[in-house]
Amino acid sequence: MKILITGGCGFVGSNLAIYFKDNRIGAQINSLDNLSRKGSLLNLVRLKKLKIKNFKIDISDNRAIEKLPRYDLIVDCCAEAAVEASKKNVDKVFNTNLIGTFNILKKCKKDKSNFIFLSSSRVYSIEKLRKLKKGKILINEKFDTSGPKSIYGFTKYSSEHLIREFSFIYKMKYIINRFGVISGPWQFGKQDQGFVSHWIWKHINKEKLSYIGFGGKGHQVRDVIHISDLCKLVGLQVKKFNKINNSTFNVGGGRKNAISLKNLTKICQKITNNKIKIFSKKNTSDYDIPYYITDNSKILKAYNWKPQKKILHVVQDMYKWMLSNKKILKKDI
Ligand SMILES: NC(=O)c1ccc[n+]([C@@H]2O[C@H](COP(=O)([O-])OP(=O)(O)OC[C@H]3O[C@@H](n4cnc5c(N)ncnc54)[C@H](O)[C@@H]3O)[C@@H](O)[C@H]2O)c1
Repeated sequence: MKILITGGCGFVGSNLAIYFKDNRIGAQINSLDNLSRKGSLLNLVRLKKLKIKNFKIDISDNRAIEKLPRYDLIVDCCAEAAVEASKKNVDKVFNTNLIGTFNILKKCKKDKSNFIFLSSSRVYSIEKLRKLKKGKILINEKFDTSGPKSIYGFTKYSSEHLIREFSFIYKMKYIINRFGVISGPWQFGKQDQGFVSHWIWKHINKEKLSYIGFGGKGHQVRDVIHISDLCKLVGLQVKKFNKINNSTFNVGGGRKNAISLKNLTKICQKITNNKIKIFSKKNTSDYDIPYYITDNSKILKAYNWKPQKKILHVVQDMYKWMLSNKKILKKDI
């Protein structure tokens, strides 16, 4: 089986490409990535070592995509993935996230390829998520998707609709995974994307951080999934694709892996032995949500899969990886 991973030099795409290669999922793995994200060049080196070819193509360039070879499966991990930044970057976000998906779908249609899409928990309504009482509810696939969800979330949600339209009329088979926060080695995190990685890195380097929004106390809660659990799941999805397809799943760390920023700080302090200054900024971004924890019931039932790595493991693994790559990371984070 020939597999193309778009965004193959990103955090998720590179880890998936290497997992597929190591576990012989697919006879040939290729990547498509324009190397625009910081850190993608470092991931390219990892792919090259395993003889995984990257096509340096912009996903919004349909002509270039048409010229690519045929694949049995395309796993779409390419995105402008930062929620906050999507306010300022609207053109880029639309071209990459929406036109990009459209181009890949046309390619799938032409080649009769299967399709796996990395969607996001940000497809859900900001207003409805803000009304939730903390700890009371886990978010399943039926949660309200109406109303604003951020420009980023909108592009993911619209892509999902395009995928279902293509599936309906052209009989293309797909799986959509709406992931919550993903973390682990080879993530080059920022404040508003990859915050776990960002938090650990700042602790290691004794630099300052800020709790932003909802009173500036660090009470926002998210569930975190380790990248290795994601890779195992997508590996399973590839193997079982003919039996399970045309479905949308919520996937995340779940209740056991939910953590507030404040508690993440405590874990970082313990692991790094460093205590840093954390400022407080009370103003809340229109895009921020106080709480999100995934209901994994549907994905558990379909694949008998659940996350194995606990939040402590996520932080420990990141810490080890960052320490052993400190020099190259200093240049790239
Ligand atoms: N990281 C998370 O917590 C998270 C959570 C939910 C969903 N997702 C989704 O998972 C996927 C992977 O996210 P990630 O964290 O690996 O992001 P990432 O930024 O690390 O990787 C994205 C890759 O896409 C490439 N890229 C960006 N624009 C491009 C373009 N126009 N043409 C070609 N390549 C381009 C970048 O160079 C980068 O290597 C995305 O679709 C994202 O929306 C991520």
